[in-house]
Amino acid sequence: MRTLSGIQPTGSIHIGGYLGAIKQWVELQNKGECIVFIADLHALTTPQDPKTFSQKTLETAVELLSSGIDPEKCIIFVQSQVKEHTELAWILNTITPIGELERMIQYKEKSKQFKDSVNVGLLDYPVLQAADILLYQVDSVPVGKDQSQHLELTKTIAKKFNQKYGETLKVPEALVLDMGGKIMALNDPKKKMSKSFPETCLFLFDEPEVIEKKVMTAVTDTGKTIEYDTAKKPGISNLLTIYSLFSGKTMKELEKEFKGVGYSKFKRRLAAMLTEKLEPFRRKKKELMQREVYVKEILERGRKRAEIIAQSTMAEVRQKVGLLS
Ligand code: TRP
Repeated sequence: MRTLSGIQPTGSIHIGGYLGAIKQWVELQNKGECIVFIADLHALTTPQDPKTFSQKTLETAVELLSSGIDPEKCIIFVQSQVKEHTELAWILNTITPIGELERMIQYKEKSKQFKDSVNVGLLDYPVLQAADILLYQVDSVPVGKDQSQHLELTKTIAKKFNQKYGETLKVPEALVLDMGGKIMALNDPKKKMSKSFPETCLFLFDEPEVIEKKVMTAVTDTGKTIEYDTAKKPGISNLLTIYSLFSGKTMKELEKEFKGVGYSKFKRRLAAMLTEKLEPFRRKKKELMQREVYVKEILERGRKRAEIIAQSTMAEVRQKVGLLS
C-alpha cells in the first residue's frame, strides 16, 4: 500500500495538526510505502515573503523530521523540486470544469480572507493537489477533514482522465483523519485550534515557559470539577482531550486521577506533562536546525526517489494525451 500526504510551509506545526495528521503519517511509515512532501507551490497562492520563504520550507522539513518522519522509511521532498507536479497539473486543468473549482469551500473561504489577492492559483489549487496525488499512483491519502472535498475532486479528475484517455491514473481513497479536529483553541473551545492565532495555539516545539503560560491562561468553565462534558464544560474537556491524547490515558482514568483537584493544579499538571512529552521534539528540532546541509541532502535524496515515480507516470500521461515524444 502506498500513501501520500502534503503540508504547506506556512507556519510551525501545532498539536492539532500533529495529532490530526502527522502522527498518523508516522504510523503509516511502518505499514507500507509512504510519501510526504512540502507543498511550497500551494503556499504561493497566498502572500509569502520571498526573503524568508525558502527558510520556511526548510524549517517545515526539519519539523517533519523532528516529529518522527523517518527518511529511511519514507520519501520526503519539496514539491517545487519535482517539476512533474506542475506539468501534470496543466494537463489536468484541461479536463477540469471551472464550475467544480468555484464551488470548493477552501477557495471560497480563502478568496474572502485574501480579498485583495484572489489569483488564478487559488482557484486552481485543487488541480495542483490532484496532480500531487495522481503522479504517484497512490492507494490512500491521509488528510484532515477539511481536505475531503479536494480528495473527492481528485477522484473525479482521475476517473475523467481514465475515461477520456484510457486507464492511466490510479483512483485514490481518502483516509480522513478527524482527531485533530477535536483540538480547540485554548481561549475559545468553540473554535478549532489554528496557527493563525498563535497565542491560543500550542505548537509542538513551544518552549516550556510558553507551554506553561498558554496552558495556565487557557479558558476553563464555571464549576470546579475536572469532567469530560463538551456541552457543559467545553474548556476543561478540550484540556482533557489534549491530556488524554499525549499521555495515552483514557478520560475515565483522568477523571479519576483529578477527582477533587482544582483547575489551576490540573493545568499545572497538564503543562508539566506536555513539557515532558514534547521535549524530544524540541531537542530534535534544535539539533536539525544546526544541520542545514544534512537536511538538504535528505530532501535531495527524496527528490530523486520521487522523480523516478513521477517521471514514469508523466511519460504515460504524455503518450496517452498524444503529446509529441
Ligand atoms: N491542501 C493540503 C492542506 O492544506 C496540502 C496538500 C497539498 C496536500 N497537496 C496535497 C495534502 C496532496 C494531501 C495530498 O492541508
